[in-house]
Amino acid sequence: MNVVLGITGGIAAYKAPDLVRRLRERGAEVQIVMTASAGEFVTETALQAVSGRPIRSNLWDKEAEAAMSHIELARWADVVLIAPATAEVMARIVSGGAPDLLSTICLATEAPIALAPAMNHVMWSNPATQANRQVLEERGIHILGPGIGSQACGETGAGRMLEPDAIAATVFSITGAKGKGLLEGRKVVVTAGPTREAIDPVRYITNRSSGKMGYAIASAAAAQGADVVLISGPVSISAPPGVDIVNVESAEDMYTATHDAITDADIFIAAAAVADYRPANLADQKIKKNDEAMNLHLVRCPDILASVAALDGAPFTVGFAAETENVIDYARGKLEKKKLDMIVANRVGKDCGFDRDDNAATVLWRGGERSFPNSSKVDLARHLIELAAKHFYAARGSETQPGLTVRSNID
Ligand code: CTP
Repeated sequence: MNVVLGITGGIAAYKAPDLVRRLRERGAEVQIVMTASAGEFVTETALQAVSGRPIRSNLWDKEAEAAMSHIELARWADVVLIAPATAEVMARIVSGGAPDLLSTICLATEAPIALAPAMNHVMWSNPATQANRQVLEERGIHILGPGIGSQACGETGAGRMLEPDAIAATVFSITGAKGKGLLEGRKVVVTAGPTREAIDPVRYITNRSSGKMGYAIASAAAAQGADVVLISGPVSISAPPGVDIVNVESAEDMYTATHDAITDADIFIAAAAVADYRPANLADQKIKKNDEAMNLHLVRCPDILASVAALDGAPFTVGFAAETENVIDYARGKLEKKKLDMIVANRVGKDCGFDRDDNAATVLWRGGERSFPNSSKVDLARHLIELAAKHFYAARGSETQPGLTVRSNID
């Protein structure tokens, strides 16, 4: 994967050499384009040493342009990543101006663009910056983070650049490029979204699942180099790049598709909100409202997760437990009852869980647990995949994959 890495003038630019290393560890070629002010925080010498390519910074550099013009550079990129992205560069991209090499490339590229904002929290929450963020997102530009925490200015808030490894992983999942990672050469099957259980030709029973958590997990697994099969109920989000998607409707369809895909899988993650019951009979014609009351006779749907965990030579199996109360107790019960390797417990209700972009969760396994505070589903998915990979290798008797260079951030 070819990455044009734009570095702009924020203090987080000091993390740029680490970011370049993380991208290269995953197999990316990195061409750095610096703005003039980035040079105040990080040197060209350091960046050239880690990227192995001459740094580009000047639109009017005749020699560099003769070797690869800015238009060729824009075409060469599989993704343009700007990290750190200052409020200034966000505004410049929104305006469509092209006063320098980096913004010219942003205008001239057809590749996806991702920005990792980094700035003082007041600058980030300023309505001008937020309006720019919104416009950029509406144009399909990926905004990675920012994180919340202590800042270089001594204050605390939202505006920290995400950690380099998190940015590198997300960039791979945006492009769908298979990176080198924790799950290279492994097959991961993920279920996601709701199921629809038909009552008659026009009606069905379903639930509020948006599929976002399962899709983020599938992306995160692909970003770690896995071959991913995503078995999805009906959702309105688009398939993540780099995964094989199988679209299904009912629990029965999802059961069949899962068992078709599972034979050679290493890890199975059941993030779908599968219906527990379906109408016993599917009416051939639309049911008419003849009576004051109506009874619908329901029968149990197959439990996909339990059926996979019960297979001989079952993959490392991870379930979800979406609960409104007694979250941890119910989740531990499901871990044991379904004989899972791991379960992700999360609270669902009016202001949490379903159909949102963020989530908090506690992951449980036999003999341990780990809580993740509320964060974007993309960040949470990355952590879940790292944790699952770590336990998968431990269960298989080896801590990490041989020859692995990308390390997990999970202790
Ligand atoms: N699951 C499944 N097949 C089903 C039902 C659930 O694979 N027919 C999976 C879900 O994908 C999730 C986990 O099982 O990983 C949820 O466990 P479950 O006990 O079914 O949770 P609930 O449906 O919430 O059950 P309950 O209503 O008893 O809490």
